[in-house]
Amino acid sequence: MTRQIDLFSYGNTGEFDAERYYERSISMDVFEAVLKRKSVRAFQDKEVPEDTISRLLEAARMAPSASNLQEWRFVVVRDATLRKQLSDAAKGQKFVGEAPVVLACCAETDGHVMSCGQPCYPIDVAIAIDHITLCATAEGLGTCWIGAFDEAQVQKILGIPPSIRVVELLPIGYPRDASPVKKNRFPLDEIVKYERWQ
Ligand SMILES: Cc1cc2nc3c(=O)[nH]c(=O)nc-3n(C[C@H](O)[C@H](O)[C@H](O)COP(=O)(O)O)c2cc1C
Repeated sequence: MTRQIDLFSYGNTGEFDAERYYERSISMDVFEAVLKRKSVRAFQDKEVPEDTISRLLEAARMAPSASNLQEWRFVVVRDATLRKQLSDAAKGQKFVGEAPVVLACCAETDGHVMSCGQPCYPIDVAIAIDHITLCATAEGLGTCWIGAFDEAQVQKILGIPPSIRVVELLPIGYPRDASPVKKNRFPLDEIVKYERWQ
């Protein structure tokens, strides 16, 4: 195995951190992770190591954002009582609380809207979440985007101020069934046009 400097050799300051310069055995092509990622709604009763969660958060931190605003904020929830309350806030989706870790993916935002008319923060937070879900796949973990939840309830449970938007919840854990699933997607010719719409 070759020693290599990777993304995670850089600390929170963005400076190279020799302590974090280590051998890594995980390797998965990005496209392979895209194909293997699936929504996981049943998890093994197995903890996710702290450093694994840190790597996922590092991957989120490296995401692009409009004007490099980096509005994303994350609350890492491991406490079983809080997870159960989050699953109640997620319209009773029980599996949310059964994952060993739930990320509340939030935005600290002034509601900046790009000149194209799109608000930045939902896009920026979504990109960061996608980094997490793909890297989680490479780590052998399963995730499921959760958009069906009561924002005010989640804010209350986690002590998130009303000014902070909760964009998604993301349960993370080792999948009970890691087998690949066939993607149910529209064919390319239904979603792509070339040169002009019509
Ligand atoms: C923004 C967003 C919100 C979602 N919300 C939920 C949710 O609340 N509950 C759930 O079970 N799945 C949720 N999903 C998962 C989708 O149902 C799933 O991604 C889609 O059916 C495609 O399946 P796949 O993820 O296995 O490829 C959500 C996905 C996205 C991207």
